[in-house]
Amino acid sequence: MKSNIALIGFMGSGKSTVGKRLARRLGRNFIETDHLIEQQAGMSIVNIFKSGGETEFRDLETAVITSVSDIAENSVIACGGGVVARPGNIERLKSAATVVYLQTGTAALNDRLAFSRKRPLLDRPDREQFIRELEATRRPLYEAAADITVRTGNRPFAAVIDEIIRKL
Ligand code: S3P
Repeated sequence: MKSNIALIGFMGSGKSTVGKRLARRLGRNFIETDHLIEQQAGMSIVNIFKSGGETEFRDLETAVITSVSDIAENSVIACGGGVVARPGNIERLKSAATVVYLQTGTAALNDRLAFSRKRPLLDRPDREQFIRELEATRRPLYEAAADITVRTGNRPFAAVIDEIIRKL
């Protein structure tokens, strides 16, 4: 097993909640790449998208993934849902971490994301259709990147965490 675990999956798949609890269970550090991006930019993700658009956000995300992959040890790393948007990110992550894909059906994602205000990509009137289409585009990328796949959605987080630990 590599010394880090990286959680990937669509927005709303539970990466942060699972990541925090998994880190506690395993006695590891918890790192959230979105949080590091906000720290480095000195502004929220919503404002990064407002001022520099998605390209600026992806540049910052790539820089954070690169440094985390170089530096992190004994950590659980929760990645943003778009980490697979740039293929190089996954190569870097895989060199440093066992990659766990939290797979969630679109019905559960739509329920969980219905009231999200922190995700600029979802700030649109056709949110449900957009989620369906983006999830369908990204699913094969998550699958290709994953060392381990675990279903989330309507299962208790404790069961998800137990399954991850069993499969590591
Ligand atoms: C994004 C997911 C978000 C965040 C940003 C873009 C994406 O993270 O990085 O809003 O492209 O899927 P979460 O998956 O933690 O919501």
